[in-house]
Amino acid sequence: MYVDIGNALSSVATPGVSRASLERLDERVAAAHERIERGIEDREFGYAALALPEDTDADAIESAVEPLVELDVDAVLTVGIGGSALGAATVSGALGPGRAGTFHLDNVDPQRTARLLDDLPLADTAVHVVSRSGTTAETLSNFLVVREAYEREGVDWTERTVVTTGPDGPLRALSEQEGLPALDVPEGVPGRFSALSTVGLVPAAIQGHDVAGLLAGGRAGRESLAGSLFDCPAYAYGAVSYALEQRGATQQVCMPYAEDLEYFAEWFAQLWAESLGKDGLGQTPVRALGATDQHSQLQLYRAGRHDKQVTFVRPRDRPDVPIPDTDVEGLSYLGGSSLGDLLDAEFEATEASLAAAGLPNVRVELDALDAESVGELLYGFEAACVLVGELMGVETFTQPAVEWGKRAARGLLGGGEFEEADAVAEKERLL
Ligand code: PA5
Repeated sequence: MYVDIGNALSSVATPGVSRASLERLDERVAAAHERIERGIEDREFGYAALALPEDTDADAIESAVEPLVELDVDAVLTVGIGGSALGAATVSGALGPGRAGTFHLDNVDPQRTARLLDDLPLADTAVHVVSRSGTTAETLSNFLVVREAYEREGVDWTERTVVTTGPDGPLRALSEQEGLPALDVPEGVPGRFSALSTVGLVPAAIQGHDVAGLLAGGRAGRESLAGSLFDCPAYAYGAVSYALEQRGATQQVCMPYAEDLEYFAEWFAQLWAESLGKDGLGQTPVRALGATDQHSQLQLYRAGRHDKQVTFVRPRDRPDVPIPDTDVEGLSYLGGSSLGDLLDAEFEATEASLAAAGLPNVRVELDALDAESVGELLYGFEAACVLVGELMGVETFTQPAVEWGKRAARGLLGGGEFEEADAVAEKERLL
């Protein structure tokens, strides 16, 4: 992973960060790095995520999914939400369909769920049900609906389902009752940091993607952690993001220039918001896509408030499509070029236009959208996020606000006595 922070410097951007202040910040980066290393070594809660590339057993995942691979399924349906879905969606999105297309059922919108289940060839679809807690209402409800759809079609869902969950909870009980193959979520790893584990890698394994390669990329990210932001791309990104937030860049726009990284932006938004949105702090993540959003949001980024940092992400290499020659007046300049050349030109023009307007932006590049680079990218952003959390002094690995909402919803549905549900019921109605 390559990180270029030049356009975030105060010589270019406002807010921006000076070299001198980065050098001062580097002392705190060194201390944070020591803390992170200790946490990784001891597999402390949360920090254990940064040990996943070493701890995840690719062979165990491959053998758990072997019966599904033998069924030669055409599709993999992930039933999970938040951190239990976005890692898998990001990996599968970035690496493509492989030998089976991927679908995700996270939300509980009845219309979308019904349509998806109507469209999917269930006899040729494997299901991966994921919930660390095993209690999340959306996931469990969706799974019950999916199960019934299989039964209605007379298709044996037990042969096509694999579960990933924690040691206890209703999902574990259900998998034991039905004799389903069940993988463990790794201990000490919050959902949004679990992409490089069973949680994120099962669909990739069913699709035939290079799981070992993804983990090797993660290990390269691990090996690149160092006690100075000037020696570590992930920490350079994290430190600059932290410094910019302190100086007023309260929004963080993640703008990949690759359709296949659209889910990455969504994954990033969850990682950044749920980990760092604490104690009145944290950048608000915004998802954008180049070149599409050049035709909409770019106006605001260039000419609106200077309360943003834009992070561009792109692969350096990708398959290309030539643009055919044409003698139509005004179009001939496109002929002989390619869609990749055009996208690169759009990327560079947008980056330069923001720099010219003084809006801080950072360029992140990977070699290509292959397993190693994607593994390294995920690891790098997780490490960056952990560093920002250390510098901010927040509890990166908890999500009390998310848990509040989950308990309130369960309470409202009669799933237990939760005081959060009372707060919902007490809402004052003005109209
Ligand atoms: O990152 C997190 O902790 C959350 O986004 C969870 O992954 C999400 O709420 C789903 O939880 P669970 O895996 O327990 O169903």
